[in-house]
Parts: sequence; structure tokens; C-alpha cells
Amino acid sequence: MNGFNEKDGILHVDDIALPEVASSAGTPCYVYSASVIRDQYAALKGAMEIALPADRQPLLCYACKANSNLAVLSLLRSLGCGLEIISEGELVRGLKAGFDPAKIVSTGVGKQKSEIKACLEAGIHQFNVESLPELERINEVATKIGKTASVVFRLNPDVAGGGHDKISTGRSHDKFGLGAENVTKGFEAASTMENVTALGLSMHIGSQVFTVESFREAFDKLPALVESLREGGHEITRLDIGGGFPIVYDDEKLLDLDAYAAWVRDIIAPLNTEIIMEPGRYLVGNAGVLLTEVLYIKETDDRSFLVIDAAMNDLLRPALYDAFHGIEAVANRSNAATTYDVVGPVCESSDIFAEQRNLPTMAQGDLAVIRSAGAYGFSMASNYNTRPLPAEVLVDGSNHAIIRQRQSFDDILKSETIPDWLK
Ligand SMILES: Cc1ncc(COP(=O)(O)O)c(C=O)c1O
Repeated sequence: MNGFNEKDGILHVDDIALPEVASSAGTPCYVYSASVIRDQYAALKGAMEIALPADRQPLLCYACKANSNLAVLSLLRSLGCGLEIISEGELVRGLKAGFDPAKIVSTGVGKQKSEIKACLEAGIHQFNVESLPELERINEVATKIGKTASVVFRLNPDVAGGGHDKISTGRSHDKFGLGAENVTKGFEAASTMENVTALGLSMHIGSQVFTVESFREAFDKLPALVESLREGGHEITRLDIGGGFPIVYDDEKLLDLDAYAAWVRDIIAPLNTEIIMEPGRYLVGNAGVLLTEVLYIKETDDRSFLVIDAAMNDLLRPALYDAFHGIEAVANRSNAATTYDVVGPVCESSDIFAEQRNLPTMAQGDLAVIRSAGAYGFSMASNYNTRPLPAEVLVDGSNHAIIRQRQSFDDILKSETIPDWLK
């Protein structure tokens, strides 16, 4: 069966029992289902295929900040995806995973000279420009190496989207994008630059955007701006409408993708441009779990703590955003419920995955999964408390492979040195 399912009382991913994964990869480890990633890609692509004419199909550029493992990237590349990158490191990963540079878009408010150069040398599709000084820097680097940069300007539409204050990006006080006036100034400046070609606009209002109307509100800002830029003699041939599609963490109602697609058809497609989208979380979030072992059950006068071997350094979202993640036992799933606080070993009070959560009664050594951990999970992991980065495993039907080895202490320590005078 595809995805996460129970067989003979044991939680599986596709055909693979999770205890088998724990024995081969150890815990904590991330486990991803290739079939869920394929299904999510097909759902998004399918909604666009139904709503939009064949010559207006969007290029889906996967926002790999969500999960940048090379195997995950290769899978999405094989499905036809392009790539959205935010750093030179992500460019290196994308190229290594075989993405066509002509399908890569570079975003972010702080592009460095070295990464602009690397993107130009690779021949990426476009830079999504977020400030006027950045435009100048792109032109400067392009001139120096004799290349021409294709750019679009990221419009800040002043629309609140995003499931949490810290993942909202489209309000005027956010650091992202440019107001309409500065977008126009950008086009005027670009028209005087030798090594930059301005081709369109981009926007991205936030992540985990539940209210589908927020997208329409943002889209509605585009037609008038496109018209005024065209009247000003600027060619607008590309619109990048960003990502932000939500997934289920708890009992959220999913985005009405068909309504979204209908607005792309009614508001964006008539502007007769190439259309680009930047989905991240939607493609991989529900495809991953963090598999963990119960280290101890600690009883206090106040409560029962389930101390697990995964911690906030492995999955930061609960500590960073107070994010909810479902937690499930891998076996003995019909045990009577006990109320636990599920916590990790890190020395911070915020190292807590769930408070007062009802779970099947568990014992030391039992396995559990933290659900919906495929996006912004491993990619935000750190070595805090000198904990090695966890392993990652990809399951595909009856195949499974470790796609990233657990980090060793040598890996962590090898780039540190003690100066001679301290020896
Ligand atoms: C510019 C840009 N595009 C796309 C995304 C992907 O967002 P999501 O994972 O919510 O689809 C992000 C995420 O922060 C982003 O900053």
C-alpha cells in the first residue's frame, strides 16, 4: 500500500515495516515515502492541467529548502520538476541531482556575489530580484563575466498569508520583495543596464497558507501592474506566483486547489506569460516521518514524560513555530491511552514535541513516529548539543535505502582546530 499504513498492527511506509528501517538505519531517522511525493506532485500538476490550457501549464520549481536530500531532488527532477533555490549550496545540490539549469530560479533577499556568479555560469532560468541594490550587483557580476542575467522582480503585495507569523512573507513590513513603485523603478533601471534583461514579476506570500482567498488577493495585484509596466514599454513574459500550499499537520482543512487553479486561470493566464510556481512543503511534507525510540518514561508528580531519542536539533518546527506534529506508536497501536509530554534529550525547555498528548501506552525501547516531518525537518536540523545529524531513508514500494548516513562524531569535529598556543 502507498504511503503510511498499518499492516498486522505495525506501522509501515509503503511495503516496509518501520521496525525494519529502525534496525538498518538506527534512530532517530527521517523516513520518506517516494509514492507520497509522486502523488503530491501529480495532484498539483493535475489541478493545473485541468484548469489551464496546454500552452499555459506552469513550470513547477520545487522549493528545495523544504527538503534538499539528493535522492528527493532526483525523484522530483525525474517527474519533470524545476527547482527554486535560495543559496549557492542549493544550486550545487540541484546541479548534482541533474536539474536542467534552465529550470532553476534563484530567490532570496541576500544573494552573494559568489552565488550570483555561480548561477550565471550555470545558466539558470532567472533571478527573482528583491531589492534595487541587488539588481545592480547582478548587473555588475554579469558584466564582469560577460553574461546576461534574466531577472524578474519580486512584488511584495502587502497581503498576509502563511500559517504563522514567522512564515508570512507578503506583508509590507516583511523583508521580502518590493512595493509596486520600486518594481517599476527596477524595470526602468534594468532597461539602462547592459547585462540584465527584466522579464517579469514574482511573488510568494508565505508558507502553509490555508486561506485560499489570500492567493486571490495577491494575484489581484498583478494585472494592473503588468498593464502599467507594459504601457511603460517593458516586456512582461514571466510571472512566478510562488508556493505556500499547506499540508495536514493536525486536523487542518486542506487548500481548495481547484479554487486556486481557477484563479490562476482567471487572473494569471490571461496576462499571457510563462507561469512558474514554487511549491515546497506541499510536495514533501506529508511524505516524511521522524522515526524515534522511547529512551525513558519519566514519571513525576505532575505528569508522564516520554523521553525520545529525537530532539529539537533534529526537528526544529515545534520549538521554532510552536508547530503541531502528529505522533504515533509504531506497534501496539491499540494499547489503552496514556497522556504524555513527548520530549527530547536537548538541554532546553523548548525541546518538546507534544504536551499532554494521548498516545497508546508505551514502554522503553518502543518506536514512535513524528508525522508530517518531510518538509523543513532535516533541512533545518543542526548539531546543537553536538548531536549528529540523523540518517535519512527513502522507501519506494518494496525498496528502501539509506539516502543519508547518520553523521559521525568525526564528521562533526573534522573542520574544527585547536590553535597551537592552546595545545
Ligand atoms: C521564495 C519562496 N518560494 C517558495 C517557498 C516554498 O514555500 P512552501 O514550502 O510553503 O511551498 C518559499 C518558502 O519559504 C520561499 O521563500
